[in-house]
Amino acid sequence: MNIVVVGLQWGDEGKGKIIDFLSKSADCIVRFQGGNNAGHTVVVDGKEFIFHLIPSGILRGKICVIGNGVVVDPKVLIEEIESLRKRGIKVTPNNLKISLLAHVIFPYHRITDALREKIRKHKIGTTKKGIGPCMVDKVSRCGIRFCDLLDQQVFKEKLKDNLREKNLIFKEIFKEKGFSFKKIFDEYKDYVDYLKPFLCDTAEFLNRLIKERKKLLFEGAQGTFLDVDFGTYPYVTSSNSSIGGVTSGTGVSPIYIDKVIGVTKAYTTRVGEGPFPTELPARLSSFLREKGKEFGATTGRPRRCGWLDLVLLRRAVLLNGTNTLALTKLDVLKGLEKIKVCVAYKLKGKLFKIPPLDTHSWQKIKPVYKEMKGWDTEIKQKDFKKLPAPIKDYIKFIEDDLKVKIKYISFGSKREEIIVRR
Ligand code: IMP
Repeated sequence: MNIVVVGLQWGDEGKGKIIDFLSKSADCIVRFQGGNNAGHTVVVDGKEFIFHLIPSGILRGKICVIGNGVVVDPKVLIEEIESLRKRGIKVTPNNLKISLLAHVIFPYHRITDALREKIRKHKIGTTKKGIGPCMVDKVSRCGIRFCDLLDQQVFKEKLKDNLREKNLIFKEIFKEKGFSFKKIFDEYKDYVDYLKPFLCDTAEFLNRLIKERKKLLFEGAQGTFLDVDFGTYPYVTSSNSSIGGVTSGTGVSPIYIDKVIGVTKAYTTRVGEGPFPTELPARLSSFLREKGKEFGATTGRPRRCGWLDLVLLRRAVLLNGTNTLALTKLDVLKGLEKIKVCVAYKLKGKLFKIPPLDTHSWQKIKPVYKEMKGWDTEIKQKDFKKLPAPIKDYIKFIEDDLKVKIKYISFGSKREEIIVRR
């Protein structure tokens, strides 16, 4: 059985915890899009691990793959490998495979990301990791991939070509210094020497595993509404963070996908700019932020918090063909007398059950809420039937609306704090 895990909101849904749980029974865990803009947190025996590029399945000794759809900052990747090794986690070319076709992030990508944000009137609030500019180069066909780095002559020519154009833009438009060829060339030569044993044709590797009937787990980063095609454009990331990214980002055909698990928090968060209809005012927002430790795992930025939004989730369930749901951070809602769930949007006096497509309308939405009874009980046991009535009602209400079963209910950061419904 091959499973895809995707975020149904604006990222940070707690996918790391679900992936960690599912990776127990998987053979190989695969990242297919995004880059080190992602930050997946996993807590094992009280120890916190934050992953930016390597799938968290590495903690269980499983084979991990970084597919061709991921843009890789080699410096960050090497630091991640080294820091895992220091903590006693085995990372070798046998359990970590990186695609030769993955595009590489260069210093000019990171700096362009920051400079473009600085001069934009409507800022996106990017992570400034160079993800967008690297994807731009990929699509405009001047990107540099790992397979290009392996051949010094090819790398030299491609880097020279890029720097000719980039330095012109940096000096003439941004009035910045520009970049030295030698410095980047030498730095990246060292990176590729280090990473060479991990590089391979991951599409070929994954399809071989499929033939051997091994179980693959595809780990989505970010979430459906950050998808460059289906998200709240332009306040999105630069990849397909919903299901579509899986096939183009790995070389695995969709006919091999058996199950799509959509992950949603029991409420909603967003980091960065862009519309957020159910965003809460400061006091309630900070209640959720403090209790849920809602600070970006990559940038440390405080996340914006709001009520659960079924209008968004209906669309995300549809787009991803979600056939199983995972609900996370349910424990965070404890202590609220009343809980609200957005069931429709009001726009120009009309009610809508699915979100609008244009960003202009997003700004004018008024959410319509159903109010539900809160609870003040700690979730301690894993039998769904024995949960307090308001918790069961909340879960059933979401399930009935989305017409998909919530199979996984996570109620804490620890591995064991999860209810699995059969
Ligand atoms: P970028 O991906 O750095 O270009 O940022 C674009 C938008 O996506 C910004 O609003 C970021 O805050 C958001 N974003 C990118 N990665 C993540 C993530 O892993 N979790 C949540 N938001 C993200």
